[in-house]
Amino acid sequence: MRYFIVAGNWKMNKTVDEAVALVEELNQKLTPELQGEANVIVAPPYVVLPQVISSLWENSNISVAAQNCHQNESGAYTGEVSAQMLKAIEADAVIIGHSERREYFKESNADIAAKVDAAIANELVPIFCCGEVLEERKAGEHFNVIKTQIEESLFHLTEGAFSKVVVAYEPVWAIGTGETATPEQAQEIHAFIRGIIAEQYNQQIADDTSILYGGSCKPGNAKDLFANPDVDGGLIGGASLKADDFIAIVEALKVKS
Ligand code: 13P
Repeated sequence: MRYFIVAGNWKMNKTVDEAVALVEELNQKLTPELQGEANVIVAPPYVVLPQVISSLWENSNISVAAQNCHQNESGAYTGEVSAQMLKAIEADAVIIGHSERREYFKESNADIAAKVDAAIANELVPIFCCGEVLEERKAGEHFNVIKTQIEESLFHLTEGAFSKVVVAYEPVWAIGTGETATPEQAQEIHAFIRGIIAEQYNQQIADDTSILYGGSCKPGNAKDLFANPDVDGGLIGGASLKADDFIAIVEALKVKS
């Protein structure tokens, strides 16, 4: 089934106290009326996940994701956290293959494929990120880049496993830059992504896949982005750090109903 989703990627922001304050504010302000059909996810840093999960334990419609996981279950991988460990604290989802992980931590499509497998094996929803850098877009390579990222990290999955995946298209040139893809650019790529999923699997699976847009999505532009038929919500960075901005973006998803 295709879900409408707004997910906040907090990146390396918020201490425990700040994180708990933010989720409590979100939980209090996010009325069923504002939330509508939106599935709302927050993705705080690892170290605050247990506190955030327990703050949201009761009376909450907010799910919790990690920002990364390691592909192996356990072992000598200093500084890493496994999908199994995330499941054990009752995380719901995990962001995988964010462009910042690809760029700064040199994650390859093969690494990302293994992380997707680990997430699915541990019943975490993988929020798989793809997107091109500016030079690739300028060179007209963006379709090929995205196709390769998806082929090499997702298309080994069976139909059943693929149906667990949420895809996020995040053009790297739009992340944290204030420069957003236009609604037309977002729709073009989202339709392309859905098309290659239909070719690989079938139209039903493609139609059931949630494809989120990320990259300078804000209260002022969210509605126009979400109004596109193939944009099923957003993966929000900077604007997810303030409750009112994030909730305004959640509210913008009502354009779907
Ligand atoms: P910004 O919304 O800050 O551009 O970040 C987008 C992003 O990287 C979400 O994962």
